Amino acid sequence: MPLISEFMTSALSPRHAQRLEICYLSQINPDDGTAVKHGFSQSPKTLPPRYLYDERGSQLFEQICELPEYYPTRTEAAILANCVDELARLTGPCELIELGSGSSTKTRRLLDAYQALSPKLHYVPIDVSAEILVASARDLLDAYPSLFVRGLAGTYEQGLAQLGASSQAARLVLFLGSTLGNFAPAASDRFLAQLAAALAPGDYFLLGIDLRKDARILEAAYNDRQGITAAFNRNVLAHLNWRFQADFDLELFQHRAVYNRDAHQIEMYLDCQQACQVHLAALAWTAEFAAGESIRTEISRKFDLAALSQVLTQHQLVPLQHWQDAPQWFAVILCQRSAATASRDR
Ligand code: AVJ
Repeated sequence: MPLISEFMTSALSPRHAQRLEICYLSQINPDDGTAVKHGFSQSPKTLPPRYLYDERGSQLFEQICELPEYYPTRTEAAILANCVDELARLTGPCELIELGSGSSTKTRRLLDAYQALSPKLHYVPIDVSAEILVASARDLLDAYPSLFVRGLAGTYEQGLAQLGASSQAARLVLFLGSTLGNFAPAASDRFLAQLAAALAPGDYFLLGIDLRKDARILEAAYNDRQGITAAFNRNVLAHLNWRFQADFDLELFQHRAVYNRDAHQIEMYLDCQQACQVHLAALAWTAEFAAGESIRTEISRKFDLAALSQVLTQHQLVPLQHWQDAPQWFAVILCQRSAATASRDR
């Protein structure tokens, strides 16, 4: 399938232009708001978490990663720092693909390790925020003179559908930060099936996941004292306001994050303080909110390593090795796509 690409030659130094390609997948497949209308028709109302990440939301998320209460980012970074050399030895040279690359900070550790393995360094970041994608690609090109970046601006589904041919013998797909936890079990199954289908047997998948722990630690991580998480949560409405010409009054909605002990997940809500109507002009759609009604903007599941390993194996993503921090708050799992055997499950 042909890919519409935009080479940002004018804005880049010639040195970059040769090594950067950005594909705007979301322009090929514009957002018609179906998922928003669907989410607002449910009870409780929900929103796909990807709307948290417009340019402002991505910046706020970067700030969350630095918060004293938000342990996942620094815990995962420490695990990666300790395991990347072993990881690169296990996989050999790979094209690196990253889902939800954001600022690509953690990616540098992996680029360092894979650069030592092979002079050919190819990185394919996939992110819904095109601005962040381009900015972090430029930083990486400055830091890694032999690096090629092919950024895919779009959703994971769009990106995985557009991977095309690999630049190297094997691929390593990175899905870090426990973003898998945003998917409810059924959506997680669909995602893993699509991922496995996009990979060839022998390809690799590196998954970072947040593990179950004391609820007080979890709730503190999503209710920081500086209110950055609250601003991040509320920003989803500002995003809908510009994207769909909506008229949400942000002041009316309050941040709430609680740990659901039965479902083992943090649930993040925006609670509407007073009854109101919100018009989304671009969607020709009006949403009604009762006083006290909430929108669930995100779930963040906390995993059991053994149970998740089984789920991965069922999707032909076979865990080869995993690494953890000493208190076992977080895990990084390396999986390999096994050969498809259609008869196995029957
Ligand atoms: C990027 C989805 C992993 O669930 O912890 C951080 C997003 N939300 N604080 C998470 C998030 C509120 C984060 N993920």
